Amino acid sequence: MVAGPFGKVALLAYIFFMTSAPFQALIDDLNSKGWHSSDSLVPPPLCEKLLRQLVKHRANHQLRKAAIGSGSQKQVEAEIRGDFIFWLDEKAPTALETNFFLWLSQLIKILDRQLMMGLCEAELHYAFYPPQTQYQKHRDVFKTKSDRKLSFVLYLNKDWGPEDGGELILFDEQNPELETARIAPQFGRLVVFLSENIYHQVNLTNRERFSVTGWLKNQL
Ligand code: OGA
Ligand code: NI
Repeated sequence: MVAGPFGKVALLAYIFFMTSAPFQALIDDLNSKGWHSSDSLVPPPLCEKLLRQLVKHRANHQLRKAAIGSGSQKQVEAEIRGDFIFWLDEKAPTALETNFFLWLSQLIKILDRQLMMGLCEAELHYAFYPPQTQYQKHRDVFKTKSDRKLSFVLYLNKDWGPEDGGELILFDEQNPELETARIAPQFGRLVVFLSENIYHQVNLTNRERFSVTGWLKNQL
């Protein structure tokens, strides 16, 4: 744990997770209602760096229109899903991403231990919604492939106001017609939910909307 160039950071992250009340609230909420929102789980310097990296990808024209479905089912329908994405590469993180991946690996370890879902890896992408785009009500699991267990979204938008729209709407685990939460995509806010159980949507945004979206997976 203490060896290697990131030993100290890893140790601090470990202690932070093991002892923090926000982390326990995440576990409790996932068990009781299937989702959790927190403004204090991700250290702000990590969010700043991810935002810088996302802005770089955008300046380099690397963001691509997101598709719906997987494999041959893939289709691009802007009305259903309006975001542009760039997949992060865990094996080759940029200097700006290194500490975020370190943080994420601790999160996976501890969530796996507490929730016993067999979580072992993550896939994640940057997402950018231009003004007047949305993502209609859906679940994050494909019909043919369901190794996605937990979905998470980390928002990177400073000073988001009610007039900006773009809220994440979560629907009830038992009754998917019932709206249970309306969450503004505020800078540093992390939302985690059960991929298989929770229907959700992104309301029409009036402002450019930035995030990192990911899934914690188990082995199929
Ligand atoms: C998704 C998604 C929610 C959000 O990318 O599947 O539901 O708030 N994103 O960006
Ligand atoms: Ni989704």
